[in-house]
Amino acid sequence: MQRSSLSYSSTLTLSSRSLPAPVSTNIKVIKLYYNRSFLSTPVYKNISLTFPLTSCFAELEAIAEMIPFNLPLLNSANPWATTQEDLQALYDCPYTGAVTTRTCTLNGFQHDDSIHQHCYFAENHAVTQHSNSKAIKDSPKAQDQSKTIVTPISSLNTLGYSPLPLRDYIHIITRIIATGDNFHGGRKPIIFSVTGSASEVSECYRQLSSSRPSPKHGYLMEINLSCPNIRGKPPPAYSKDQLSEYLRTLNEAMKSTENQAEPLEIGIKTPPYTHQAQFTDLISALLSSTPCPISFITATNTLGSCLILSPDETPTINSADGSGIGGMAGAALHPLALGNVRKIRQMLDVHEELRHVKIIGVGGVSDGAGYRRMRSVGADAVAVGTALGSEGIGIFEKIADGM
Ligand SMILES: Cc1cc2nc3c(=O)[nH]c(=O)nc-3n(C[C@H](O)[C@H](O)[C@H](O)COP(=O)(O)O)c2cc1C
Repeated sequence: MQRSSLSYSSTLTLSSRSLPAPVSTNIKVIKLYYNRSFLSTPVYKNISLTFPLTSCFAELEAIAEMIPFNLPLLNSANPWATTQEDLQALYDCPYTGAVTTRTCTLNGFQHDDSIHQHCYFAENHAVTQHSNSKAIKDSPKAQDQSKTIVTPISSLNTLGYSPLPLRDYIHIITRIIATGDNFHGGRKPIIFSVTGSASEVSECYRQLSSSRPSPKHGYLMEINLSCPNIRGKPPPAYSKDQLSEYLRTLNEAMKSTENQAEPLEIGIKTPPYTHQAQFTDLISALLSSTPCPISFITATNTLGSCLILSPDETPTINSADGSGIGGMAGAALHPLALGNVRKIRQMLDVHEELRHVKIIGVGGVSDGAGYRRMRSVGADAVAVGTALGSEGIGIFEKIADGM
């Protein structure tokens, strides 16, 4: 066996049968195609491969095209995945293996800029305050403020869900796929993040199942059961009974679309759990529904009940109840997210019937080292929220380069 060093991914082992005899060092930039895996479809990146041989370039390229690579990196559900423009950019980005939409409901959420807000912070004080309005984001003042962002960055938000209803996301994604260039976007899987009551979420499932252009288009549905900012509605994923109810209703919805060759995959987005009983409840709920309708878990959402104060000790952002208390994410969430992914993976693996459940790890990833940490605790794919907001779409190339 001969080893080649790969500047982009982990070390690659090639069979000596497929390579000519080594003669001298030869460095070439060649195109590698990432094969489909859990979430990634073929996307490519020019990568420097150092081969200890002077082989024919064409032959190396042919071999490289056959090498299975994954790019299990994507955006999480968040405000930077709201509009057609946002989703097109995420779809076209060669460093995302899949795209997640912002969480939506059947009829759209009543977003109000004056109470649904977010800010970034470092340590325990605010560094910027952001409105979601594009006009404000693009204003010279806002651009000036964003220059003050320092890493590692965390976020606090009091947002609810997307003002756009599910049917708008179905149209947006249909348009993106129809006009998509298969080379760049490929048939990237789309994760539709949805929420609502158990029966509303089942209706989302039916609408998504019937709107998929063809089974080869990887549509997945992620049920957000973990938003901490909805007044009077604590995250259902903290309750075993509520979780079980969602799973039971989903099983019924899946039965009604059973004739489909490749049923839509369903995942749940969990909140950060902080003690053993919460993890045990999650696993018990999954075990209680047979067959388990879930094929992936996205861990974690933001940590609720957090507050960032301005220097004058008033809340940095507003919220529906005026307290400014909201969900925290980014760097400050990273250790809790790592712990959640590791614990959930270990607990799923104990049960044969749950071993197939994959995990999308999310929380505080903003570079290649964070990506590697998330993968090392058992994440099959890694998603990015806060760092996408604070650094823009270039975050995916930055993470990919540091993998
Ligand atoms: C401003 C903001 C809005 C968010 N909105 C959603 C949402 O609509 N749906 C959802 O499932 N998660 C939402 N999240 C949570 C993120 O998807 C992610 O799970 C969490 O922020 C942890 O990842 P991060 O540390 O990379 O931000 C939001 C996060 C932020 C910062």
